[in-house]
Amino acid sequence: MRYDLTVQELTPEMLTGFFVGWPNPPNVQTHLKMLKNSSYIVLAIDNEENMVVGFITAISDDVLSAYIPFLEVLPEYQHKGIGRELVERMLKQLEGLYMIDLICDDKLESFYSSFQMTKSLAMIKRNYNRQSGL
Ligand SMILES: CC(C)(COP(=O)(O)OP(=O)(O)OC[C@H]1O[C@@H](n2cnc3c(N)ncnc32)[C@H](O)[C@@H]1OP(=O)(O)O)[C@@H](O)C(=O)NCCC(=O)NCCS
Repeated sequence: MRYDLTVQELTPEMLTGFFVGWPNPPNVQTHLKMLKNSSYIVLAIDNEENMVVGFITAISDDVLSAYIPFLEVLPEYQHKGIGRELVERMLKQLEGLYMIDLICDDKLESFYSSFQMTKSLAMIKRNYNRQSGL
C-alpha cells in the first residue's frame, strides 16, 4: 500500500468501485475531476493491483477553514486501518487551519472522536438530480 497526495500518475480506470450504494454515482472520469479540483487529497493505492482503494478529499480557503466532503475505502479493503491512515494524513496537511469540518453518520462518531473531533449540528442541502456531477 502507498499513500499519494497528488493525482499525478492517476488514470480514471484506477478509480473503479467507489461511491458504493449511491443511486446515481459519479463516473470514474468525474471522480478524477473531483480529485483534481480538491484543495487536498490523500489516495490509498494498492501497489500490486495498481488501483486506488481509498481516498479522502478536502476543500479549503487555506486561511482558516477546510471541509472534508469525501472519505471512502473500498469494501474489501475496510477494517485494515486504511481509513484511519487517510484521515491522519489529511489532518496533517490541514493542521495549520482553525476549523476542519465534516458530516458523518452517527455510527462514525467514535471513529472521528478519536481524532479529537467533536459532534456538532449540521445543516445540509442536496440536489439529488446533480448527484452524478453530470
Ligand atoms: C468509514 C470508512 C472510510 C472507514 O474505513 P476503514 O478503512 O474501514 O477504517 P479503519 O480500518 O481505519 O477503521 C478504524 C475503526 O473505525 C471504526 N469504523 C470504521 N468504519 C466503520 C463503520 N462503517 N461503522 C462503524 N465504525 C467504523 C471502527 O472502530 C474501526 O475499527 P475496526 O476495523 O476494528 O472495526 C469506511 O467504512 C467507508 O468507506 N465507509 C463508506 C463511506 C463512508 O461512510 N465514509 C465516511 C463519510 S463521513
